[in-house]
Amino acid sequence: MGHRVVVVDDLSGGFEENIPKEAEFFPWDITEPVLVEELFKQVRPDYVYHFACYAAEGLSHFIKRFNYGNNLLGSVNLINCAVNYEVKCFVFTSSMAVYGSQQVPFREEMIPMPEDSYGIAKYAVERELEISHKMFRLPYVIFRPHNVFGERQNIGDKYRNVVGIFMNQCLKGEPMTIFGNGNQMRAFSYVGGVAPIISECVDNPKALNRTFNIGSDYPITVNQLSEDVATVMKYPWRVARFDVRQEVAKAFCDHSKLERVFGEIKSLSHMAALLRMAEWVKEHGARQSKEFKDIEITKNLPPSWVHA
Ligand SMILES: NC(=O)c1ccc[n+]([C@@H]2O[C@H](COP(=O)([O-])OP(=O)(O)OC[C@H]3O[C@@H](n4cnc5c(N)ncnc54)[C@H](O)[C@@H]3O)[C@@H](O)[C@H]2O)c1
Repeated sequence: MGHRVVVVDDLSGGFEENIPKEAEFFPWDITEPVLVEELFKQVRPDYVYHFACYAAEGLSHFIKRFNYGNNLLGSVNLINCAVNYEVKCFVFTSSMAVYGSQQVPFREEMIPMPEDSYGIAKYAVERELEISHKMFRLPYVIFRPHNVFGERQNIGDKYRNVVGIFMNQCLKGEPMTIFGNGNQMRAFSYVGGVAPIISECVDNPKALNRTFNIGSDYPITVNQLSEDVATVMKYPWRVARFDVRQEVAKAFCDHSKLERVFGEIKSLSHMAALLRMAEWVKEHGARQSKEFKDIEITKNLPPSWVHA
């Protein structure tokens, strides 16, 4: 598309090898307002695609201060500069977590009722964008993705990305770990279907200043996912069950609003997408999960998340 692309990532959860060579890279932390100001001064971006986040939804209950500092205040630093430097469009990946445990499938007109700190931070950023548009005419597009997976994902974070966690466990010869009975339902969404829509949204006038669910229409249980992962990894199905943890039982979305504006998502089928990720994971190898160091509340922390 001929744009100059600048990537900002402090590599707290990402990997430099995933950044295309043609992109300029600033290994900066968005929670540092002075750095964010310097970035906008140097780059003067037309568009901001804001994905930076620590998206460990379940863990967010136990790391509230970090969650709001990183995911909310970091976002506010970007919004301030986007207003001051007159960005043409601010694209934000919120999350299905804003809905909480309402009737599925979640629809955009439902009033958000997030049930964890991650979802609350996402909803606060959404509202900030809405009022920054009203007050300062900052154009925005908000996406609420859900359970995205695919090649290059961080498979070494034991607190998030269940597809990656399962595949990593297969590679290490460990059983796949499931919280509770595994009947939780999610629609796992291949990144190859979701990413093109997000990247092209700024050129679609019908998308401006609106919010969209985005992802797969194919909800399955976590038990089913574990079987599917075992199949594509060619690994005998083996699971270890942990106590149920505080999480929404059924979470998936309606995408008719997205389809009206962008058309249908063009994606690989569920099994073809899992297979493609499995091939990448096998080639790439297992990753060691890092412990999250600064847990702020240890009460009710799932035992498997307590540091050894
Ligand atoms: N993956 C999903 O299923 C999913 C679902 C809903 C929403 N989202 C949202 O989409 C976005 C991308 O998610 P992802 O799964 O690709 O996550 P990811 O962890 O792979 O990518 C987020 C990146 O942000 C970087 N980062 C974190 N804090 C930073 C900071 N303070 N300064 C600079 N960089 C920082 C990390 O290093 C990482 O590379 C996030 O905003 C997430 O909340 C993801």
